[in-house]
Amino acid sequence: MTQNELHPRHSWRISKQALYTILLASSALAQTSKRGLASINTHISDIRLLSTSPSPLSWYYNWSPYANTNQIPADRLQFVPMIHGIDATQSSQTEQVIRGLPQSSTHLLSFNEPDGTTGSGGSSIKPEDAAKAYIEYVVPFRTGKSGGRNWKISHPVTTGSPNGLNWLRKFNESCYKIDKTNGCPTDFIAAHWYGAYVGLTAWLGTLNEFYNTNSSSSSDLKIWVTEMAVPQQSADATTQMMNQTLPYLDKLEYVEKYAWFGAFRTNDANAWTGNGVALFANDGGLTKAGATYLGSGFTEGQKGEGAESAAMEMRVSLGMVLLVSACIIVVGAL
Ligand SMILES: *[C@@H]1O[C@H](CO)[C@@H](O)[C@H](O)[C@H]1NC(C)=O
Ligand SMILES: *[C@@H]1O[C@H](CO)[C@@H](O)[C@H](O)[C@H]1NC(C)=O
Ligand SMILES: *[C@@H]1O[C@H](CO)[C@@H](O)[C@H](O)[C@H]1NC(C)=O
Repeated sequence: MTQNELHPRHSWRISKQALYTILLASSALAQTSKRGLASINTHISDIRLLSTSPSPLSWYYNWSPYANTNQIPADRLQFVPMIHGIDATQSSQTEQVIRGLPQSSTHLLSFNEPDGTTGSGGSSIKPEDAAKAYIEYVVPFRTGKSGGRNWKISHPVTTGSPNGLNWLRKFNESCYKIDKTNGCPTDFIAAHWYGAYVGLTAWLGTLNEFYNTNSSSSSDLKIWVTEMAVPQQSADATTQMMNQTLPYLDKLEYVEKYAWFGAFRTNDANAWTGNGVALFANDGGLTKAGATYLGSGFTEGQKGEGAESAAMEMRVSLGMVLLVSACIIVVGAL
């Protein structure tokens, strides 16, 4: 029997400061990253690769108020609920579900592509109707009357087109017709972009001009790019666009978060975007775009842990929870 075994407390002789630093550093990395996950992937191994260490992704959403609690632990990626359209405002579930989300959820997205048709995932809402529903249903989440806390809310997210900008102008006018003083208050702006890098920079510039430079209120609204991709391109052209875009968005001060479309396998891509946008190949390996999105340390063809090893991973992560709890108890006792 060694000295250490006789005095196991020796192994915990590590300064309080160092322990705090380790605990903080491990969570800070993911939290400061702007990069996120727009999730419609049903393959557990893909989701696991995207959402567990060392993935740089910090947040996710899935166009609904329902978190993917079984696949993505709330302490790994921040979940951002969305009120997709008028339907969601009429469902008795929506408010309850958002109220029940963990405290790590702080931001709430509103209507998805109201200027787009329901056939392409849009919510097809007239600006006047959207303004009314926004003031009646979404704003109370901001004031804490709904959803159990003060949520940061976004204006509806339009398509990245002249139609989108027109829609937002009419929406703003309608808002002020209903509420002359406040219009439709918003805490952040959400944007979509499908196209080349140069077009993306122009669209974000336009939105920043509309909401910040030209707006009469002295606002400093940050933009979240909640869908972006370059449609109908080869794997190389797609990766090249991504290569230009990611460092640009990481540096752009008025962009707070972004998510690539999409986190699915090649076969699950829709006809409009084409296969090139997929982060995963059909066998579950990362595409070139997928490896680029996850960044250094990730390689094309890399796969997430298979569903078979799920039970073992559960035990490992339970072990981690116990270890971290033990650290916290020890820190408290030092
Ligand atoms: C902002 O104002 C300038 C000057 O009036 C105008 O030319 C421009 O179109 C406006 N931008 C937007 C996005 O409305
Ligand atoms: C919305 O309309 C109000 C009232 O006309 C105006 O003061 C404000 O600048 C507009 N906001 C934006 C983002 O255009
Ligand atoms: C994208 O960037 C990565 C890393 O910088 C590089 O290895 C890759 O060749 C680039 N791909 C394209 C298509 O530009």
